[in-house]
Amino acid sequence: MHPLDNIYSCNLCQDLTKNRIQVVVGDGNLTPNILFIGEAPGAQEDIEGKPFVGRSGKILRNALSELKISDFYITNLVKCRPTNNRDPTSEESKNCFPYLKLQLKQLNPKIICTLGRHSTKKLLTASGIDMKTITAHRGTKIDISIDGVKYLLLPMYHPAATIYNQKLKENFISDLKKLSDIAGI
Ligand code: URA
Repeated sequence: MHPLDNIYSCNLCQDLTKNRIQVVVGDGNLTPNILFIGEAPGAQEDIEGKPFVGRSGKILRNALSELKISDFYITNLVKCRPTNNRDPTSEESKNCFPYLKLQLKQLNPKIICTLGRHSTKKLLTASGIDMKTITAHRGTKIDISIDGVKYLLLPMYHPAATIYNQKLKENFISDLKKLSDIAGI
């Protein structure tokens, strides 16, 4: 049905398939402590084939290296770039979710850290938990269960949201510190 091998030729979303350069599956340690889940690749990610290598990626990766957080894998809720960096549609999230679920099974992270409201909403909803706002959930530990497997979820703001907002930037850094405490780093 949805083996990860097939992801590279996936054509479930017409608009994404037509406009992408490549499918951006993920990057990092394949037996990670932490799994970061963003929204969808942007232009630079589509070119390089790696998540979080553009402007928001620099914010995230710089903060992670300052806090010495290195044991992680990064992926996105949707693996193809939405045109003009629009938000992924709910149909696109739904089409791509089986791939994310396979990654969860294979990577079996100790902690899942969702970046932004889209991936947070998808994981909470899939666990039967109502999504409030990302502001309400960020920085709080939530026990979730996806396909009968339990995970610890720590939602955070998306790094792009911190670019022009100092307060969100401070929250973002304090959540990363909390993450490193939970992960025992
Ligand atoms: N924003 C995301 O959510 N994911 C990326 O890979 C890059 C930017």
